[in-house]
Amino acid sequence: MLLARRSPEQRSAQGPLRLSKFHAPEIVFGEGSLPEAAHAAARLGALRPFVVTDPGVLEAGWPAELLAQLRDAGLSPQVWHDLTPNPKDHEIEDGYRRYVEGGCDVVLGIGGGSVIDAAKGVALLAANGGRILDYEGIDRIAHPIPPLIMMPTTSGTGADVSQFCIVTDTERHTKITIMGRALVPDVSVVDPRMLVTMPEWLNAATGLDALTHGIEAFVSLAHGPLTDHHALQAIALVNGNLPETMLRPDNPEARCLMAQAALEAGLAFTNAILGATHAMSHQVGGMLDLPHGVVNGVLLPHVIRFNGADEPERFVPIAQAMGLELRGAPAAEAVQMVAEAVRALGDEVGVPKGLAAIGVLDTDIPRLAQLTLGDACLTTNPRGASVEDIEALFRVAM
Ligand SMILES: NC(=O)c1ccc[n+]([C@@H]2O[C@H](COP(=O)([O-])OP(=O)(O)OC[C@H]3O[C@@H](n4cnc5c(N)ncnc54)[C@H](O)[C@@H]3O)[C@@H](O)[C@H]2O)c1
Ligand SMILES: [Fe+2]
Repeated sequence: MLLARRSPEQRSAQGPLRLSKFHAPEIVFGEGSLPEAAHAAARLGALRPFVVTDPGVLEAGWPAELLAQLRDAGLSPQVWHDLTPNPKDHEIEDGYRRYVEGGCDVVLGIGGGSVIDAAKGVALLAANGGRILDYEGIDRIAHPIPPLIMMPTTSGTGADVSQFCIVTDTERHTKITIMGRALVPDVSVVDPRMLVTMPEWLNAATGLDALTHGIEAFVSLAHGPLTDHHALQAIALVNGNLPETMLRPDNPEARCLMAQAALEAGLAFTNAILGATHAMSHQVGGMLDLPHGVVNGVLLPHVIRFNGADEPERFVPIAQAMGLELRGAPAAEAVQMVAEAVRALGDEVGVPKGLAAIGVLDTDIPRLAQLTLGDACLTTNPRGASVEDIEALFRVAM
């Protein structure tokens, strides 16, 4: 119906009618929603749920609440928390052994993107065996995996709704992307209460990650009508609320809106996929074990300028979502304004100026650029990029 009402000009501007698909978990969202995870586990047939978390989140105290709720539901949870940020291949394989030893069933992840990705990796191995790195790429998971319930404790990655699992390859010092419908969790329980214990730097980093997801998904070659509004909404929400969560960390409304931003950005990018910022960031993060959102925050303005030089029009709605006053300015100007606004937001929340400040050396660039070309996220970047283009982008971001 909607399509029939568009004018011929609108239809040609939006391209031919394309098939769209949209996947998403069941989502429970709102303050105090955490107990829903235990209900969901029982409903999905759990007896010995495998609870994945990490030392930082354990210390914040949230897993203790979840474990009490699981026990109240008559279940016998097993906890595994031996993993580090940017989860490593061997850590996930250790987790899988713990899952088998514990005779576990449903997998729950309570933590940031690292915990959620590790939980997905354990579930993947539980049903498919082998080494985690064997699954790099798209749709290489043959057997259905155990039910997944995710509870994000950061407002950033969207891993709780996404079909991605990002793992550090410790031999090649890079991050690999495992992608497939099988990795979309069954249930995502988003309780924004859990965001208040994030340290300030993590709040800033994960907020910038969500902004990157929104912008990359909106301009992606795989974007569509079902993802565009989530992407724009995420961009507007991060822009409008991240500074407030830095100034007043206990403001529940701003936390709730940041949780929504991360969620909507996740829904957009898991369906529209990402672009060059993530393809490049995975290499830097894998080499130096750096916070993902910080690297994205540094790279994003440069990738915006690169992509916008080719096709600036998609940046006009992004500028509007960020509340930038275009006053009829040409699209090329919108590109510059968006890039500047992203950098200004980064400055406001403490994102380092360039890659050199976070430990990247000029001599690293050729290898980083070469690895970027093999990252699945680059395939949906709106502008084709050669190895020279990527090298130039790394150099300008130093
Ligand atoms: N699968 C996906 O779709 C996807 C998307 C984007 C990023 N990622 C991946 O996610 C990872 C980054 O995740 P992240 O940015 O959420 O951070 P993280 O999970 O790496 O956590 C960083 C640190 O913060 C601590 N922490 C997390 N939540 C906390 C809380 N509420 N209170 C106190 N401490 C807390 C953790 O213990 C950890 O030490 C990267 O590996 C990245 O590649 C995955
Ligand atoms: Fe990300």
